[in-house]
Amino acid sequence: MAYERIELSRDAIAAQEEIARRLRAHFTAQGKTPLAMVDTYGCQQNESDSERLRGYLAEMGFGFTDDEFAADVIVINTCAVREHAEMRVLGNVGALNHTKKARPDQIIAICGCMVQQPHMAQKLKKSYPIVSLVFGPHELWRFPELLERYITRKKRVFAVDPSDGTITEGEPRVRDGKPKAWLSVMYGCNNFCSYCIVPYVRGRERSRRPETIVAEARSLVEQGYKDITLLGQNVNSYGKDLDCGTDFSDLLRMVNDIPGEFVLRFMTSHPKDATEKLFRTMAECEKCEHHLHLPVQAGNDRVLKEMNRQYTAQQYLDKIALARKYIPDLVLTTDIIVGFPGETNEEFEDTLRLVEQVEYDAMFTFIYSPREGTRAAALPDPLTRAEKQVNFDRLLALANRISAEKHAGYVGKTVEVLIDGESRDEANPLTGRTKNGRLVHLAGEKALIGSFVRVKITGSTTWALFGEIER
Ligand code: SAH
Ligand code: SF4
Ligand code: F3S
Repeated sequence: MAYERIELSRDAIAAQEEIARRLRAHFTAQGKTPLAMVDTYGCQQNESDSERLRGYLAEMGFGFTDDEFAADVIVINTCAVREHAEMRVLGNVGALNHTKKARPDQIIAICGCMVQQPHMAQKLKKSYPIVSLVFGPHELWRFPELLERYITRKKRVFAVDPSDGTITEGEPRVRDGKPKAWLSVMYGCNNFCSYCIVPYVRGRERSRRPETIVAEARSLVEQGYKDITLLGQNVNSYGKDLDCGTDFSDLLRMVNDIPGEFVLRFMTSHPKDATEKLFRTMAECEKCEHHLHLPVQAGNDRVLKEMNRQYTAQQYLDKIALARKYIPDLVLTTDIIVGFPGETNEEFEDTLRLVEQVEYDAMFTFIYSPREGTRAAALPDPLTRAEKQVNFDRLLALANRISAEKHAGYVGKTVEVLIDGESRDEANPLTGRTKNGRLVHLAGEKALIGSFVRVKITGSTTWALFGEIER
């Protein structure tokens, strides 16, 4: 695929920061701190992008709020992966009519994957006049410039031109997940699975340079982050567009070798590119979690072929067996689509069989959602929604039974847990993750957030473990 790698210069970002400083004078002119609300949908990549939005907003002098009436600027960072995600966004944008009426000076911006689709940008233009600013993922790096353009010209701004994407470094960023940090290693996707919109809205695969990633990871560790997740739509393609010979396994080892106490995670791996070298590296790197999220999508070879996944069910199972040989305590999770166009009930049975064979620790299951412009959207789709729902419910019941059994297997054991946040459960106000990514609820002081503790597991459900800190 012809793609020209474009790395934006530091000067380009510096120019945006200069605009942000100008806007700071504008927004703080009334002497009070302006407030922004950033609402994020979709995957971790979008969470990471929202940190960039907050970084720029902070440079413009903004504080942050969750109250849409209090916000001077609202930015909604959207997802396009399924219709449900888009409906939620449109519903919430519609609801902002109230806040906009109460305070006409409010600036509403919609960005992210949904608006990168031409029909959605059109829809916002025609039917949502309260929205002042619309920009796709490729334009996020120049958010200050777009905002200034709207403020000075008082005309709605739409920045959604098609693009293969660029690489930007050195943008400001406000992280809010301490002790957890997202670290993008690559952007875009070249796989074009036939159901998926991501390659259309996120552009071509492009990798950040390893030395830049390692420097950022080192800085995160120095700042006290304890849980670093390397992000990409398909991390196993990392480095293919670089000339330095570093692949994802090499990168994993480079980050693992940074001194300090932290857990190293990564998402997502495409099965076709998951290699023996990756499994060996995961086993050898002591900070790397023993968890692999390896989306299978379906268990039937004809369906997998139609999906353009580029592996058979058997090839997938062989990879799992190999991974488990290197990492016997490997936690496996997956994504599955039910009701891909033309998938028969018999073909769906193959998915159930594969799930029983693998015994995933957790599964993310979705009913197929047609995405405009993708190849699958044009395929005949004879099963009704109700028939798909029956299959979906069967899969979910199976997934839940296996997860519950796997979780029950932890009860009585003592595991190492990173305490990473709070929950609303009064009896167990802290949350944490085991080194292989299992959610744990437990009691203890808030001051423990960010520390590793040994936890005796005392109970379990389908979704989580419960435990007590050993002292
Ligand atoms: N890059 C990741 C997945 C990104 S999307 C990967 O390839 O693993 C996350 C999940 O959403 C996918 O794994 C798939 O299961 C699901 N998904 C994507 N497009 C979908 C669609 N059109 N309908 C239903 N589910 C979809
Ligand atoms: Fe979508 Fe497939 Fe790319 Fe994942 S690998 S983002 S499912 S096209
Ligand atoms: Fe959604 Fe875009 Fe992520 S479509 S899943 S937010 S890459």
